[in-house]
Amino acid sequence: MIRKPLVALAALTCAGVLWMPMMEARSASDPATIVKERQDFMGTFWPSYLKEFAGIAKGASTDISGVPAKAAGLAADARKIVGYFPAGTGRDAVPKSRARPEVWTDQAGFEAAAAAFVKEADKLEAVAKEGKLEAIKAQIGATAQACFGCHEAPVKGGGKYRFEEK
Ligand code: HEC
Repeated sequence: MIRKPLVALAALTCAGVLWMPMMEARSASDPATIVKERQDFMGTFWPSYLKEFAGIAKGASTDISGVPAKAAGLAADARKIVGYFPAGTGRDAVPKSRARPEVWTDQAGFEAAAAAFVKEADKLEAVAKEGKLEAIKAQIGATAQACFGCHEAPVKGGGKYRFEEK
């Protein structure tokens, strides 16, 4: 597991250039629809990207030809996360949501966790272009690890910003 210095993280967050919440990522305005869209969106990370990456990381596949394009897609989607969490879309408004109140009460921490994920996805995109299997495997691990900054891997698992599914 790779630990990033907090300083680097803070610098990244302050830079603000790499990190711009994209509110246009969502089209709806009523909280229940936003939550539905956000859960559908979060649900795409595994089938669209991580599933293929996990096969490579575990050694089940050595075909890395698709990684550069997938990593670019992941990096683009990573930037959309924060835009799916407008104020007023927590569990108090939409009981189906598993977003913890900390998403909004600790917004800086939440955005930093999202920025850390963007950073690792960007790094994966860069490493993928170099085409070295071992380096790609290591960076896949670091990227997946960045999901855990917000919640655990098991889909029902909880975490800092997500309630466990009972
Ligand atoms: C910045 C924080 C953050 C990061 C980073 C993050 N998630 Fe999430 N994720 C959340 C929150 C909060 C929810 C709960 C949303 C809700 O229920 O309203 C969630 C929900 C989910 C869900 C459940 C969707 C559903 O149908 O209810 C999945 C699956 C998921 N995330 C996968 C991932 C994967 C895979 C990664 C990394 C590639 C990742 N997440 C990175 C915050 C994050």
